[in-house]
Amino acid sequence: MRAATGEVAAVLCLLALAAALDFGYHHAEELEAYLREVHAAHPALTHLHSIGRSVEGRDLWVLVLGRFPTQHKIGIPEFKYVANMHGDETVGREILLHLIDYLVTSYGRDPNITKLLNNTRIHIMPTMNPDGFEATKVPHCYYSRGRYNKNGEDLNRNFPDAFENNNVTIQPETRAVMNWIKNETFVLSANLHGGALVASYTFDNGNSVTGSSKGYSRSPDDDVFIHLAKTYSFNHASMYKGTGCDSRQTFPDGITNGYSWYQLEGGMQDYNYVWGQCFEITLELSCCKYPPADQLEKFWMDNKVALVEYIKQVHLGVKGQVTDRNGNPIPNAIVEAQGRSHVCPYRTNAHGEYFLLLLPGKYVINATVPGFKSMLKTVEIPDNTANFNALKQDFSFSEVSIRTRPASCPKVPLYQELERSSAAVKPTLHLLVLMAAVILLFR
Ligand SMILES: *[C@@H]1O[C@H](CO)[C@@H](O)[C@H](O)[C@H]1NC(C)=O
Ligand SMILES: *[C@@H]1O[C@H](CO)[C@@H](O)[C@H](O)[C@H]1NC(C)=O
Ligand SMILES: *[C@@H]1O[C@H](CO)[C@@H](O)[C@H](O)[C@H]1NC(C)=O
Ligand SMILES: *[C@@H]1O[C@H](CO)[C@@H](O)[C@H](O)[C@H]1NC(C)=O
Ligand SMILES: *[C@@H]1O[C@H](CO)[C@@H](O)[C@H](O)[C@H]1NC(C)=O
Ligand SMILES: [Zn+2]
Repeated sequence: MRAATGEVAAVLCLLALAAALDFGYHHAEELEAYLREVHAAHPALTHLHSIGRSVEGRDLWVLVLGRFPTQHKIGIPEFKYVANMHGDETVGREILLHLIDYLVTSYGRDPNITKLLNNTRIHIMPTMNPDGFEATKVPHCYYSRGRYNKNGEDLNRNFPDAFENNNVTIQPETRAVMNWIKNETFVLSANLHGGALVASYTFDNGNSVTGSSKGYSRSPDDDVFIHLAKTYSFNHASMYKGTGCDSRQTFPDGITNGYSWYQLEGGMQDYNYVWGQCFEITLELSCCKYPPADQLEKFWMDNKVALVEYIKQVHLGVKGQVTDRNGNPIPNAIVEAQGRSHVCPYRTNAHGEYFLLLLPGKYVINATVPGFKSMLKTVEIPDNTANFNALKQDFSFSEVSIRTRPASCPKVPLYQELERSSAAVKPTLHLLVLMAAVILLFR
């Protein structure tokens, strides 16, 4: 009896050792070892995979957490966090490891975390630029070469851009993330940086169509983005105060439109929103890009609640399935809220599913099978984030069987085309007015 108890105690002690995560920097090998340990200790709750390799051949690890970690389940939204795409911005890399530790150790103990993991599939990528991190030898608060990947490219300028041709060679790290986004139906995401203290939201680039002449590049979902950014800043220990890092740069409520702060092209958050059907914000978490390790525990405590509250927002709005009369899913149907059409229309996935992040209120949801017909439904959206379940609204087209052609969204700068066509409309309008006047004169 005593021996058995001793054995149990020894096993528990080993498990505790395996789960204990220190507040220090974890280099590539330690990071991989930690992720493998977590997966070994929680095989039913986690799935570990590499989505590709960096220029120097390091794996780009993603740990997936949830009740069904290995695959998508209908109705369960996909969420992601990506950190350290600038290799010298290191706080996100470490606090995501602590978030993993917190989620797996709270499952089955904390009812809210249990429910969150039962109803959400959470993908965590602690580093998108492992080479840049290793290239940064010592903690240092300011800009360094480690920002870039091994080829000297800034990964947050390396994506296709919706506003201009950004003329860059897509890097292996970027390509891996683009394939990953194509592969999963991500709904909500954040991208963790350092060097400031603010939650910044799309668009980062802009033109006259999005209002950039007024210094703010507005997406059709601006209200949702402001809510998302505020969810983070107000649940953070101090971000909401908006004092930033020095008196010259303040951010009311701790948030900013990306373009208003500074314009950039080829950023990851605009790419997610335009081509990935995924709402992403950029979180700047520390004034010092690579702070000393003894500050990491404080950074984790400052961000812990915000990181969890932000994930819950994946359950905002409305979701459902589009099917035909036989209940077969209709992929590639366009489903959008009226008045909020996206420049590359949001479409259903292979299971006919859609997810739309919308604030509580009344909306008309338009489901369209391209070239066939549209179905409109009015919905009253409550705030369901605390229940971890967005409002459900399915669409059934009564025709027997419907096929849709997969639509690939062109990689050309989509807003540039819009700007051109709106410029082209003006002369045509003038001509019409002139013709109308001429007709009136001769009546
Ligand atoms: C769980 O969430 C509810 C609603 O947000 C909150 O009132 C409650 O305090 C939370 N419980 C725990 C244990 O955190
Ligand atoms: C989570 O899922 C497990 C397995 O289906 C179930 O036993 C448990 O009751 C669920 N917990 C909550 C809080 O939803
Ligand atoms: C962009 O394209 C021009 C013309 O093709 C080329 O000269 C230039 O080097 C390119 N710039 C980058 C950053 O690739
Ligand atoms: C894409 O999805 C398939 C099937 O779920 C999976 O086997 C593969 O690893 C995924 N690839 C990436 C890059 O996520
Ligand atoms: C519904 O969406 C389709 C596809 O975007 C569009 O062509 C149509 O005009 C929309 N219908 C209404 C009534 O808004
Ligand atoms: Zn950065």
